[in-house]
Amino acid sequence: MADVNTPGTGKAFLAGLHEALRSYDRDDVLAGLALLADLQVTQAQLRACPALGLGRAVRAVLNAALDRLAQRDRQAADLLVRHFVRGESTAHLVRVHDCSERTIFTRQRQALAALAQVIWEAEDAARLSGPLSESQQAALAGLPPPSFSRLFGVGELLTRLKDFLRSERGCPLIALEGMGGIGKTALARTAAEELVREGCFGRVLWITARQQFFAWGNIQPVERPVLTYAELCEELYQALQLGSPLRESEAGQELRLRQALSREPTLIVVDNLETSRDIQAVVAGLDRLARPAKVLLTTRHRVAAYESVTSLTLRELSREDALAFIHYHAGERNVPAVLNAPLDALERIVAVTDGNPLALKLVIGQMHARPLAVVLDDLATTRAGAREFYRYIFRYSWDQLSPAARHLLLHMPLLDARGAAGEELAAVSGAVAAAEFWAAVEELVNCSLLNAGYAGGRLLYSIHRLTEYFILSDLVHAEKT
Ligand SMILES: Nc1ncnc2c1ncn2[C@@H]1O[C@H](COP(=O)(O)OP(=O)(O)OP(=O)(O)O)[C@@H](O)[C@H]1O
Ligand SMILES: [Mg+2]
Repeated sequence: MADVNTPGTGKAFLAGLHEALRSYDRDDVLAGLALLADLQVTQAQLRACPALGLGRAVRAVLNAALDRLAQRDRQAADLLVRHFVRGESTAHLVRVHDCSERTIFTRQRQALAALAQVIWEAEDAARLSGPLSESQQAALAGLPPPSFSRLFGVGELLTRLKDFLRSERGCPLIALEGMGGIGKTALARTAAEELVREGCFGRVLWITARQQFFAWGNIQPVERPVLTYAELCEELYQALQLGSPLRESEAGQELRLRQALSREPTLIVVDNLETSRDIQAVVAGLDRLARPAKVLLTTRHRVAAYESVTSLTLRELSREDALAFIHYHAGERNVPAVLNAPLDALERIVAVTDGNPLALKLVIGQMHARPLAVVLDDLATTRAGAREFYRYIFRYSWDQLSPAARHLLLHMPLLDARGAAGEELAAVSGAVAAAEFWAAVEELVNCSLLNAGYAGGRLLYSIHRLTEYFILSDLVHAEKT
C-alpha cells in the first residue's frame, strides 16, 4: 500500500483527490480542482475528446484509475466506488463489511493513497512518452482521428501485432480480421501510432478502401465498392508525391513505388479491405510492394486463406473487459444511469451486445434518454442478425435526436471519411446558430454517433462506417423512395 508521504502522492494531492471523489458527479467542482485538472493524463483525455469538457475529463481520469486499482486491489477500488461513486453510506459499508466504522475509514484512507499512486504512475508514463517530434507528427498526419480515449482488452493482441510489424523477417502482410465495430481500425491506429513513437516507422500511408459514396452536395449511395489494385497504386503515388502513375506501365509503377518505399521505413495500412472490388489482386500487389515496407490490412472478411498474409482475429471483449469498458465509457459520457446500475443490469448489456465495443458504446449512448431496463428489454427482443441489431440501435438513437443533431448527422456522409474539422461540418450542414450547432455536435458525440479526436494537430469529427450505412440505407434512401 502506498505511503501518503511518498513523492507524488503528497498530502495536498490526496486532499484534492478526496475532494474530487466527493464531488464525483459535479463537473464544475472537478474542473476547478487544479491538481487534477492540470495533469497530463487529464489534458490527454481532453485532447482526445474536447467535447468532454474539463470536469468530465477529470472524471474519466478518476474512472481509469479506479479500473486500474481494481486490477491490483479489487477491495480497495470497491470501497471507493461504493462510497463515492454509488453514494453508499459509511453505516451501510460497516454492515456490508461487518467491521467497525474506524476500520472502514482506515481502509478508505489506504485505498485513496493507492488510487493516488495509480494516477501518478499513469502521469509518469504520460510525461515519459513526451510530445512528438515534427517528423513523427508528419508521419501520423494521415491517420484517422482516434475514436477512443482508451482501449480495453487488446493488450496482448496489440503486443503480438506490433511484434509482427517490427520483425524484419517473417510475413510483411498482417491482417486484422473481425466483425464490424469490433475494433480493427482502433487497434490498427494504435499500433501505427505506437510504432511511430518508438521510431520503427518514419512514415505511415493510411489508405481506406471505403468508397466515397457521394457527389459533392448530393448524397448518392453507390451500390458497388471499389478500390482496385490500380487505384491503390494511384493513392500510394499521391501519398508518396510521385506524380501521376497513368503514363507508366504496371511494372514501371511498381518499380518506382518500391524504390520510394525503400527510402524510409514505411507502414502501409489498408483499412476496410473487404470493400475492395478485387481483394486477390490487391493482396498480391501489396505483397510485391512490401519488403522492406510492412502492410497492415483490416477486414471484416477472413483473408487467412491467402498464403502471403498472417492473420490476427479480433474477438468480442471478455466479460471483465466489457464491464470495465462500460464503466469507463459511462464515466466519460457522464451517464449516471449506467454508473449506478446494478451488476446484473451491466451484465445484460454485455450479453445483448456480445461484448462488441461499438454496440456497447451505442447502447450506453441511449441511456441518456431512456431507462436502462427499457433499452435492454427492447434490444433483447430484437437481436436477430448483426446488421438488424445495429439498424435497430441506430434507429432508436436517431429517434431521440434533436432536429439540429439529425440535420447535422444527415450531412456527415458528405465529408471526408477520415474526419473533418468543425468549420467544415458547420459549412456543409448549412447555417444554424453557432450555439445550436455546437449543442448538436455534443449531442451526437454523447450518443456515440459522432467521433471526435485529434489527428495531425487538428480536431476532426467523423462517423463510423456502420453509422454511415444506416444514414444512407435507412434515412437517405428511405426518404427518396
Ligand atoms: N477494445 C476497445 N476498447 C474500447 N473501445 C473500443 C475498442 N475497440 C473498439 N472500440 C471503439 O468501438 C468503435 C468501433 O471500433 P472500430 O471502428 O475500430 O471497429 P472496426 O472493427 O474497424 O469496424 P468496421 O469493420 O465497421 O470498420 C470505435 O468507436 C472504437 O473507438
Ligand atoms: Mg474499421
